Amino acid sequence: MQQRILSGLVLGLVLAVTSSVTIQAGEKKIWITIGDKAYQELKQIAPNTILSESRLVESGTAGFSIQETVRLVQVEQSAIQALSGAIHEKLKRCGGFIEHSSEAVGRMALGNTAAGYSPAPAIASLAPSYVIDNQSTVTPLLTQMQATNIGQTIVDLSAFVNRYYTTTGGVNGSNWIRDKWLALANGRSNVTVEQFTHAGFPQKSVIMTMQGTDNASEVVILGGHLDSINTAGTTETTKAPGADDDASGIASLTEAIRVMLASNYQPRRTIKFIAYAAEEVGLKGSAEIAKKFKADGVKVIGVMQLDMTNYKGSAKDIYLYTDYTNAAQNSFVSNLITTYQPTLTIGSDSCGYGCSDHASWHAQGYPTSMPFETAMSESNPKIHGAGDTYANMGSQANHALKFGRLATSFAVELGSDGPALPPSTISLTKDVSVAIAGAADAQTNYSFVVPSGVSNLTFKTSGGTGDLDIYAQLGSLATPTSYLQKSDGANNTETITIAAPTAGTYYVLTNAASAVSGASLIASYQTTSSGNVLTSGVAVSLGSVALNGTKTYTIVVPSGKSSLTLKLSGGTGDGDLYAKLGAAPSTTTYDKKSDGATNAETITFSAPQAGTYYVLVKAYAAMNGASLLATIQ
Ligand code: BES
Ligand code: ZN
Repeated sequence: MQQRILSGLVLGLVLAVTSSVTIQAGEKKIWITIGDKAYQELKQIAPNTILSESRLVESGTAGFSIQETVRLVQVEQSAIQALSGAIHEKLKRCGGFIEHSSEAVGRMALGNTAAGYSPAPAIASLAPSYVIDNQSTVTPLLTQMQATNIGQTIVDLSAFVNRYYTTTGGVNGSNWIRDKWLALANGRSNVTVEQFTHAGFPQKSVIMTMQGTDNASEVVILGGHLDSINTAGTTETTKAPGADDDASGIASLTEAIRVMLASNYQPRRTIKFIAYAAEEVGLKGSAEIAKKFKADGVKVIGVMQLDMTNYKGSAKDIYLYTDYTNAAQNSFVSNLITTYQPTLTIGSDSCGYGCSDHASWHAQGYPTSMPFETAMSESNPKIHGAGDTYANMGSQANHALKFGRLATSFAVELGSDGPALPPSTISLTKDVSVAIAGAADAQTNYSFVVPSGVSNLTFKTSGGTGDLDIYAQLGSLATPTSYLQKSDGANNTETITIAAPTAGTYYVLTNAASAVSGASLIASYQTTSSGNVLTSGVAVSLGSVALNGTKTYTIVVPSGKSSLTLKLSGGTGDGDLYAKLGAAPSTTTYDKKSDGATNAETITFSAPQAGTYYVLVKAYAAMNGASLLATIQ
């Protein structure tokens, strides 16, 4: 895809000027950064604009770079509306300007546009996978999407007299989207719809959140703007249907939301759909939201902006705008189109300085994309006026459907990623048997969590008819070819023993070599109480032990050892030693004993079997001051 080519010629600060022109006292003034062509218009509209600083930047397109001077200027608030009109009507292009809360903030923004500037990622170490691997989820969603639904949303939204950010229609339009999205969410517990209240104006942004399952802290954002504008006037009664700009983008997103929720799609990442307030007056709504997300440290891994999706004015279907967007993500978006909508053709263009809400996210360092309905020079001539209607687009929404489908594929492909999932298994509880039955070749995976400090982990099957085999593995699923131990006798009686298990999750695969019925599986291990555990090479003092008194100790011997030596020594009296593997010995039941007439007793197991050895010390005569030492070699 597009590779941003950085010209060596460029650039940096070209001039820093402080204007001698002053503006009239009393007028509300705002700071904006503005592209070159738009600035030429502004000079005519508002000759007493104050220029603070300017910079030559690249706005960059495929294969070559566009150089443009961007200026930080202070203008009267009242000039903004005329400026926006002039940009669209005279220049036939978008982009223009971004409003800043102060000169300092504007200077920072200007710095961020410097040649070759690529914003520091908002969140370090977040490089999403752009692998396309959710066809089985995405494709059925795309076939459910319908242009008529998109058309209806455009009709409904453009029925407001206008959706200008200060008017009643602007407020009601936001409420309408909230209610529409709430109805689609239909009470689902992991989906919320909220309005985002902005500080300086009554129109609210709308945010739908589809809460992610196991990777919820990473967020995918898709948005469009809900406001509209008529550059001829901004009263309550000025018509600004904004059918293409941007009811169409909201409608494309709404249809994506509809099918995702209707199919009960559960994302692993959190997905947010945002209808931004106040885009047409300087990206105000999105700027506030993107700043808040950045300040809150939200891990936004990708942003897609849909602003104007239904006017088919160019030869190609979808144009990926290259400025203020992320090249790697754009390449992924291009791949989404070729994968999921292979009949569509893809173009690229650049939009201008800050032409829509993606620029707000880009300014905060987040990766953005802006798929657009036409090439820049052929965009809908009716926008920002009373003529931006559904009828003007042929009263159909076939073009917007392509963008709705692209949004769905973007949301699901990015929304479905997360860390590797633990394998799906039936979990076993210690000493609780589970029934096993199945046709020949039936396989089932079980998991069993083994804590530290236990011994003799066993998996046993028994009972019923048939021929069950079992395979055990630590940390990952067992298979008939990958296992720690197996037991594959000719019937259902199988035992796996792991004498000195490592703490962790063990997986057991049961495989019916021939049909099995009525069998059961049980997992177990032995716990040793911690007060009397011997450590190889560390002697323990026995203190005083009364006549016939006993003390029992344990020690876990790993596999592959050459000897276990148990040695009693020192002190007074007559202690005897008894040892047994796997269970506590008595003076009559033991594997080995040493019962001489003093405290000098030694038991040695050569090439000991792995497992827990129990050691019983018995005072044949009262003992005092002896010690016990176990040594594993
Ligand atoms: N949808 C337009 C942007 C647009 C128009 C893109 C035509 C491509 C072709 C958007 O709503 C808009 O009007 N943006 C403003 C910029 C904003 C900072 C006021 C514009 O372009 O003037
Ligand atoms: Zn617009």
